[in-house]
Amino acid sequence: MSGPFLLGLSLSGRRVVAVGGGPVTARRVADLLAEGAAVEVVSPELCPALTASLSERTTLSWTPRRYAGARDLDGAFLVHTATGDPETDRRVAADAEARHTFCVSAGDAAAGSAQVPARAAVPTPAGEVRVAVHAGGDPRRAAGIRTDLADHLTGGVVDLRARRPHGGWVALVGAGPGEEQLLTRRATTLLAAADVVVADRLVPQAVLARLPETVRVVDVGKQPQHHPVPQEEINRILVEEARRGQGVVRLKGGDPYVLGRGGEERAACEEAGVPVEVVPGITSAVSVPAAAGIPVTHRGLARGFTVVTGHEELPGLPTGTDHTLVVLMGVAGLRETASRLVAAGRPEACPVGIVERGWTAEQRVTLGTLADIAGRAEQVGVTSPAVVVVGDVVTLAHGWAEQGEGAGGPGPSADAAASDDVSERSTRHLAAHAVA
Ligand SMILES: C[S@@+](CC[C@H](N)C(=O)[O-])C[C@H]1O[C@@H](n2cnc3c(N)ncnc32)[C@H](O)[C@@H]1O
Repeated sequence: MSGPFLLGLSLSGRRVVAVGGGPVTARRVADLLAEGAAVEVVSPELCPALTASLSERTTLSWTPRRYAGARDLDGAFLVHTATGDPETDRRVAADAEARHTFCVSAGDAAAGSAQVPARAAVPTPAGEVRVAVHAGGDPRRAAGIRTDLADHLTGGVVDLRARRPHGGWVALVGAGPGEEQLLTRRATTLLAAADVVVADRLVPQAVLARLPETVRVVDVGKQPQHHPVPQEEINRILVEEARRGQGVVRLKGGDPYVLGRGGEERAACEEAGVPVEVVPGITSAVSVPAAAGIPVTHRGLARGFTVVTGHEELPGLPTGTDHTLVVLMGVAGLRETASRLVAAGRPEACPVGIVERGWTAEQRVTLGTLADIAGRAEQVGVTSPAVVVVGDVVTLAHGWAEQGEGAGGPGPSADAAASDDVSERSTRHLAAHAVA
């Protein structure tokens, strides 16, 4: 086999001498310092990046002169040379060789006794996974292959589970609104590292189906009005599995911290001394309206939005139709919510949209006003999960003209009709509809 023997070096606290003060040295020195090495740069001048590191890092020192010979390498475990002068680089490499010290020669890799592979690191709760690529001495090819490998590692293609006992961990991972393409990169990486996945009802089923058979899936999904696994029990499962040394992904619909009790789960882990990471997800509160063409804010229509559950009393909420209200878990109490909002001062003509099963093939949108939305929902048999959106932004929904105004249904609310933006709003609505 030709090529260098790829070896992991522990550089923490060890002396490395870098000859040369330019950008190549700066990049390599940054890596060496990150590994904990004590680096001395020998060079009459420093580039700006090295000057900046010198003022920030106590483990970096500078000898401001030209390379003076083998004594500069005293005590070094590793030498790096990038002076821009081939003759000096050759001298440094030869001096290092004579002292049995490995030397990287950046300008001419073959002239040194060590080479730096293209590297990537993927953090997992059970330790960082690193890859190093050497490709026949071609650094560009190595860098390209490294990038592809790193993509595989973070993209959930490679099984990252620990194969020997390790400290357990929990990751509270937001899975987004149900479309697996809307999972974050970090979510896929952690799923590939998990021994156990504790899943909600609304997480993308395709993601669970693709897990290796040896990953245990615990379904703690809650149905509306029916809580098969109480929150305390979920907390207990997370802590117990982690204490058994398992890597646990708690896969939650949307974002863990938006009406998802993620804060309680994190607190339970922290109280039990279990390491816990929280990975944000795309919340249904914003993404499900978007799937129906409804932006929760829109210039001229709404400057802000509030997210509530349909179980709330809804006290003290802004009543203007230019403030969007997003109601999660709002199907069962829809009639009461609509009449409470009207009683609180919202106009009966305020537009309302209900988006059921957003981002799935069964997505359905029902449009109306506070006055008639409950009747319309009952008529078509709206069921959970659904997001209810209240406010003028609903007029931007795909199909508003057909289901709403065009069908003799809700017109613009009193607030919106009074606004100067009405004609602009209609134009924008048509444009959005044409694109849909
Ligand atoms: C317990 S809350 C959890 C919200 C979640 N943490 C989030 O950020 O999206 C569940 C509610 O989110 C809404 N929901 C979640 N995914 C949905 C989807 N794909 N379509 C419609 N509504 C959804 C429904 O209102 C459902 O009742």
